[in-house]
Amino acid sequence: MSAPAATPAVAAPAGEPTAVTPAPLLAVQGARKLFALKAAGRLLPWGRAARTPMLHAVDGVDLTIGHGESVGLVGESGCGKSTLVRLITRTLDPTSGTLRFLGEDIAGIAARDFARAPQRKLIQMVFQDPTDSLNPRYAARDTIAEPLRLLAGLSGAELDARVNEVADQVQLPRALLARYPHQLSGGQKARVGIARAIALSPRLLILDEPTAALDVSVQAVILHLLADLKEQLGMSYLFVSHDLNIVRLLCDRVLVMYLGRIVESGPAQQVFASPRHPYTRALLSAIPGLGGAAGQRIRLEGDPVSPIDPDPHRCRFHGRCPKGRDECTRSAPQLAELAPGHSVACLFPESA
Ligand SMILES: Nc1ncnc2c1ncn2[C@@H]1O[C@H](COP(=O)(O)OP(=O)(O)OP(=O)(O)O)[C@@H](O)[C@H]1O
Ligand code: SF4
Ligand SMILES: [Mg+2]
Repeated sequence: MSAPAATPAVAAPAGEPTAVTPAPLLAVQGARKLFALKAAGRLLPWGRAARTPMLHAVDGVDLTIGHGESVGLVGESGCGKSTLVRLITRTLDPTSGTLRFLGEDIAGIAARDFARAPQRKLIQMVFQDPTDSLNPRYAARDTIAEPLRLLAGLSGAELDARVNEVADQVQLPRALLARYPHQLSGGQKARVGIARAIALSPRLLILDEPTAALDVSVQAVILHLLADLKEQLGMSYLFVSHDLNIVRLLCDRVLVMYLGRIVESGPAQQVFASPRHPYTRALLSAIPGLGGAAGQRIRLEGDPVSPIDPDPHRCRFHGRCPKGRDECTRSAPQLAELAPGHSVACLFPESA
């Protein structure tokens, strides 16, 4: 297998000392994905066509992932986590924004061309449901071998040796490589999915709810395996999960997303110990032993704002926020750093 790509460096601007800073593994700036919804040919009363309504799935997201870093992405259903993931894996084109991977612009590569881009091998996904994500007509060996054949050009003995090596890394007995998905347990299918994802020695592994479909006991085993693999192989993780306990245990940093935007980001221990955004505080309060003592759960009243053409001049959490005030309807909060590395988008953040 080829060695991981070297870390490119960002040169200092002209006239400044020549020290170089390593570029982060991934740097996303101002990423937006708006989906046009059908306006059904509506006409305004004066005959002009109505403007197409736009669903703001991801709406101005900045995020960086460092080398070997594990970043958690949390937020309620529909807030845009998977859409953001699809922008990063370049299966979806952003409406605007920049995405740099190892210092190189990947937003400029059209989603349909990304399969041939050199970065494709280095960004891999582990999917939520191993049953859905594995081809029922492929034996485990073929599932793991496919990206090695198509993207690394391996064949014959070299291909077999690499498949065996990866199976060993995910602790999948080689005897199971001949089996089809319906002949494997949930945990074994999860190992096949992980083996396929790490086969090309990626630098970034994106895990979208990787254990949500598994029994609790199997979940723990697979999470341990993921933590070990990260250390052994030096990968970075973007870990999408509804399970805040998992994020707290596995992630160095956490990003909290609400209706297309990051509302809080910071070191996981700090965010969990002292959430500063009212939404994060409410999320954590629902987890026994995490957000506070039993009986202190913060229940959010009111309906979420629609993601279709939301008012750009008000906070999207207003209406559900226990701390909302009139000012929050006149000015949309931007992410601001309240402590080193800990940023919050709220006009009236909670005290530390
Ligand atoms: N292709 C599409 N066309 C129109 N709207 C879409 C499309 N894909 C996603 N959406 C909308 O974008 C928003 C974000 O969806 P997304 O799947 O990213 O949410 P999520 O945070 O991953 O949710 P979950 O936790 O349930 O997986 C939702 O309102 C969804 O309905
Ligand atoms: S800006 Fe206002 S409504 Fe928005 S989260 Fe902060 S306090 Fe709540
Ligand atoms: Mg999703």
